[in-house]
Amino acid sequence: MNVLVVEDEPGAREALVELVKELGYDASAVGTVADATAALSRLRPDVCIADLGLPDGDGIDVVRAAKNAGGDCAVVVLTGRGSVRSAVEAMKAGAHDFLLKPLRTAQLTATLAQLSERHDEARGNLPAGLPDPASAGGLAGMIGRSAPMLEVFRLLTRVARSNAPVMITGESGSGKEVAAATVHLLSRRARQPFIAINCGAISPTLVESELFGHEKGAFTGADRRRAGTFEMANGGTLFLDEVTEMPPELQVKFLRVLETRTFRRVGGSEELDLDIRLIASSNRDLAEAVRMETFRADLFYRLNVFPLRLPTLRERKEDIPLLANHFLSEIEEKERRGFSSFEPRALESFATHSWPGNVRELKNAVHRAYVLSDPPAIEAEAAAAVLTDSAFETPRPLAGGDDSWPRVEVRVGETLQTIEKKVLTATLHAVKGDKRQAAELLGVSLKTIYNKLKEYQLEA
Ligand SMILES: Nc1ncnc2c1ncn2[C@@H]1O[C@H](COP(=O)(O)OP(=O)(O)OP(=O)(O)O)[C@@H](O)[C@H]1O
Ligand SMILES: [Mg+2]
Repeated sequence: MNVLVVEDEPGAREALVELVKELGYDASAVGTVADATAALSRLRPDVCIADLGLPDGDGIDVVRAAKNAGGDCAVVVLTGRGSVRSAVEAMKAGAHDFLLKPLRTAQLTATLAQLSERHDEARGNLPAGLPDPASAGGLAGMIGRSAPMLEVFRLLTRVARSNAPVMITGESGSGKEVAAATVHLLSRRARQPFIAINCGAISPTLVESELFGHEKGAFTGADRRRAGTFEMANGGTLFLDEVTEMPPELQVKFLRVLETRTFRRVGGSEELDLDIRLIASSNRDLAEAVRMETFRADLFYRLNVFPLRLPTLRERKEDIPLLANHFLSEIEEKERRGFSSFEPRALESFATHSWPGNVRELKNAVHRAYVLSDPPAIEAEAAAAVLTDSAFETPRPLAGGDDSWPRVEVRVGETLQTIEKKVLTATLHAVKGDKRQAAELLGVSLKTIYNKLKEYQLEA
């Protein structure tokens, strides 16, 4: 594999070339964007490692030059701690990855090893023979044929080839987890593990050992070595579900691991190299969470390299019959009661519903209508009945932060925990124990509410 180093500082350039050669790759080096542009078309390198600050431009210019040169050169940009944002820009322009300076050997080794693997494989090694989503009505198990979904499929296929972190947003039930699994499935990591963690549901006391694993004897009860989430996901994809719910202490730990790309088991001294593809999801506005300072900006930039917004079901109503039939055959496969279709009026009532719970709500509705109908077709009455059922209504906040809500008194000197407990108790009281509504008012997930109730030993 051929590596081109683009670095203006002679000392750093030579050191980098030495290191690349030591790792067993061919290396050449230049110091400016102009020379890099020439070298890219003359040498046709497989990988280009480019510093972000160059005398006649920046790493993003090198990314563009690599694109213009054709071929399939993967550009890795080097950036200082202060300019992660420009690195993110470079990723958006098509850079393969970015590495932090001072460069750690482990980081470079991992990145180059992975690129070399890619180089050895046939180019564009997506699962062969994947049918066109428009005619297949979906992409690898993710159903849809509407214009917004075809756009999602186009982006998914493209991002799957890169190693860039993906940030998936969309309303609850819109298919964020399905989309994350699809990216994994279409990526080079498909045969490696796909591990999902719910960031709001990790127990604060166990978090270290959950994520990093532990050595035998690391603490009382650690009677053998246990691999943590990072280790289990290594080589594969780590899905950070509900990432906005990640507690601040955990955000710091995460950032550190992502920056160094190494981690240690609790009670261990061995530094383990991390090689994971990150996908995060949220049904809340992440930029807003950053503005409110509940989510760290530096972590946000690292995760938000490739944002992907999933449409609501309301925005793609033409997919409803397709999805409904898909879920019907899924259920029929299991239950085998002899259903094969919907009465036309059943699909009509589905088409006029607003689906606040999106695809998940549709899936549940089909299941319930299945139970209420007699074969061979899902009956119109059954479909109408499950839609009027209030169990499907997602409660809206009455008037969040409105003056009609009771007040809670807090004093300087009280711990945040006490304050949180007070607000939680008062909110639950105000909504007569409706945890879903409390979650909505407090802007957290339902799971978080349950966790907090457990944490504070309040009645669940
Ligand atoms: N495009 C789709 N094709 C097939 N099934 C889908 C699709 N989108 C969602 N589903 C199904 O709908 C349900 C909800 O999807 P998923 O869990 O991915 O939603 P989500 O956006 O992660 O929701 P939440 O925010 O509540 O976690 C799942 O059962 C999933 O299989
Ligand atoms: Mg989800």
